[in-house]
Amino acid sequence: MRKILVIGIGAGNPEHMTVQAIGALNRADVLLIPTKGDEKAYLAAVRRDICDRFLTNADCRILDYSVPVRRADGAYADGVHDWHRAIAAIYERTLLGEVGEDQTLGLLVWGDPMLYDSTLRIIEHVRTAGNVTFETEVIPGITSVQALCAGHGIALNRIGLPVEITTGRRLSEGWPGTARDALVMLDGVQAFRTVDDPEAEIWWGAYLGTPHEILLSGRLADMAETITETRRKAREEHGWIMDTYLIRRPASEEGAA
Ligand SMILES: C[S@@+](CC[C@H](N)C(=O)[O-])C[C@H]1O[C@@H](n2cnc3c(N)ncnc32)[C@H](O)[C@@H]1O
Repeated sequence: MRKILVIGIGAGNPEHMTVQAIGALNRADVLLIPTKGDEKAYLAAVRRDICDRFLTNADCRILDYSVPVRRADGAYADGVHDWHRAIAAIYERTLLGEVGEDQTLGLLVWGDPMLYDSTLRIIEHVRTAGNVTFETEVIPGITSVQALCAGHGIALNRIGLPVEITTGRRLSEGWPGTARDALVMLDGVQAFRTVDDPEAEIWWGAYLGTPHEILLSGRLADMAETITETRRKAREEHGWIMDTYLIRRPASEEGAA
């Protein structure tokens, strides 16, 4: 039976590749690499670097594909749904046209496939369409959350306390949930500026794991402007940015024990 190997490749440093991920890379008969725009060109370059460094299977074929553009008009959910269907159609065509009955297709997923990534959901669209049968195997990768915590040398959680993992869009609508710690990803609006707590602290990281990595931390009220300005300049310089941050608000005595 055909197989799809979903390989977590880490968050920007080729050396995030685990031994298991390198093994999986070399089991693939075909690797499918997405390309799109400035940001994706860099991400594609990291994937190519990973292949150059770790791929020793000379028979493996690397195929590029252009990621369909997500429609920005209409309802967000509809746009995402159509976008996923379009990518599912590419996966299906590749499986049927490029991957033999007993061969393996490898997908290189940024960070880990379980964290704000739709590859596994898209694969389920292909499966339910029913035009091709295959099994799936997932190889975990180092996430941007781990790269952030490692960069700052901090633990993600305080003892016995929860952490809410959320998006910038959600944080901009108000502090999420009951946790006093929020790990924020996918933030195009610098939602940390909406947190009005004089005692909150922030640990921010951009381009984590890459040669452009920037780390800033401190009291949120003191750092918000510096981070906003640093982010703006870096984005201007590189043409793209990916950043992640942890905000920690004081916890009750009981919770912080
Ligand atoms: C679509 S999500 C993918 C997350 C990925 N699956 C992971 O495990 O980290 C993209 C978001 O992850 C975060 N991210 C991914 N790589 C990053 C990096 N190298 N530096 C900073 N943030 C990163 C950013 O918040 C970005 O908006």
